Amino acid sequence: MSPLDILLVLFSLNLRTTRAAASADLITASKDNSPSCGCYEISSDSSPVYFTYHRFYDWRNLASSPDQFTSIPPSLEEDEDLGAEELADTYQDVLNGTEWNQDWGIMSWGKETTVEAPVRMQNSAANVYIAQRNAAIPNTSASDVETPSEDIEPYTTHLALRTTRHPTFQSTAEIENQQKNLLHASVRFRARITGDPGAVAGLFTFVDDTNESDIEILTSDAASTIRYSNQPTVDSESGEEIPGSSLPVTGLGSWREWRTHRIDWLPGRSTWYMDEELVARSEYSVPRKPSGLVMNLWSDGGSWSGNMSVGAEALMQVLWVQVVFNVSGPVGGMCGEEGCEGGKRKRGEDGCTVVCRVDGVQEVGVPEVAFRVSAASIRLSGPGSWIFVVAAVMVSILGL
Ligand SMILES: *[C@@H]1O[C@H](CO)[C@@H](O)[C@H](O)[C@H]1NC(C)=O
Ligand SMILES: *[C@@H]1O[C@H](CO)[C@@H](O)[C@H](O)[C@H]1NC(C)=O
Ligand SMILES: *[C@@H]1O[C@H](CO)[C@@H](O)[C@H](O)[C@H]1NC(C)=O
Ligand SMILES: *[C@@H]1O[C@H](CO)[C@@H](O)[C@H](O)[C@H]1NC(C)=O
Ligand SMILES: *[C@@H]1O[C@H](CO)[C@@H](O)[C@H](O)[C@H]1NC(C)=O
Repeated sequence: MSPLDILLVLFSLNLRTTRAAASADLITASKDNSPSCGCYEISSDSSPVYFTYHRFYDWRNLASSPDQFTSIPPSLEEDEDLGAEELADTYQDVLNGTEWNQDWGIMSWGKETTVEAPVRMQNSAANVYIAQRNAAIPNTSASDVETPSEDIEPYTTHLALRTTRHPTFQSTAEIENQQKNLLHASVRFRARITGDPGAVAGLFTFVDDTNESDIEILTSDAASTIRYSNQPTVDSESGEEIPGSSLPVTGLGSWREWRTHRIDWLPGRSTWYMDEELVARSEYSVPRKPSGLVMNLWSDGGSWSGNMSVGAEALMQVLWVQVVFNVSGPVGGMCGEEGCEGGKRKRGEDGCTVVCRVDGVQEVGVPEVAFRVSAASIRLSGPGSWIFVVAAVMVSILGL
């Protein structure tokens, strides 16, 4: 083991300690916590795949006192149907600070009724909030049993998206990541969905209706069923569903409990995982255009979502989102190529000599060095592929 390797090990140990201490500012501290990594390796459908960038958005430990985030914004009233009127009272500072705004946007668009979607829909910021784990109990008829899970025990908060059915409209929630030029990504969402039938929880990549890759959880489905789709799923001429476009997978572990939902969007293929298990794959209409990331919870009375009963609610709780990705242009969300103030953004190396892993690590969200490629690493001009010469000295630091 060379002195450099030892330095790297010390550096990554040091990182872990620093992060644990910085709980008050976790959004900042955890977002890009891998300065020693040049690129990231994952295994997708048994093949190694490499990405240049990593982000970890962690909403688990945002409370700085036991009573913070214990009262959730009240569900909206029937007359609060414009998407903006509630902001002054309820908007949480943490969701309007620099860190949040740099990376995420809370939507307030609405959608009028159509023949296919007979219930008006309105996104509102009041339906997006940080809550302590036991604060956010939806008005639900379903019994939502929370199974204790190791990774949430020490943590107190989560990000919540809520939807409520009113007599004349559906109050909904949507957030978008500001990095809109992802071109291939592996995205993991640690989440659970609870509440009444008639809502759709969406975790997806999106740029338009024909370049979109979805995980969709329908609260009227069995808790063991998830729909995995690449759009379009409906033929625009005939209105018929396109065979094979949407893959309903049954027999899964319940989405009412904490799960890691994962999309691997790769050139020419999509694979979906739940927890560590590959559950669907598709080569149909794999998105080709640079895209963003969206999470939403909605219903419009159409045939896909169905109707929620008036007064009913559903909730999506998210502990963290992790993304390894490539981009088609500048990286940095709203901050542009030079990154944001404070230099927290890391630009990709030209080539990659320190390869990190994000799976099977000691602490989720903290990448670990998998191997280093010594001087023998070659970068091909051409389509920008890295070639790792197998014979290169690969120094595994795992066994330490
Ligand atoms: C968000 O913060 C800005 C100032 O930083 C303020 O002008 C704006 O009113 C805030 N928005 C909400 C919805 O609280
Ligand atoms: C993506 O968008 C382009 C043009 O906007 C379209 O031609 C293509 O069919 C879409 N879908 C895929 C999978 O490329
Ligand atoms: C939802 O309810 C509306 C009436 O409010 C009805 O027109 C529509 O067909 C219902 N949707 C479904 C999917 O049953
Ligand atoms: C809760 O939902 C039920 C329908 O599922 C509704 O009848 C009831 O009025 C709701 N309660 C509140 C407080 O909104
Ligand atoms: C990401 O970019 C790197 C560098 O160009 C390339 O080697 C890698 O194959 C890309 N990965 C994907 C999934 O496109």
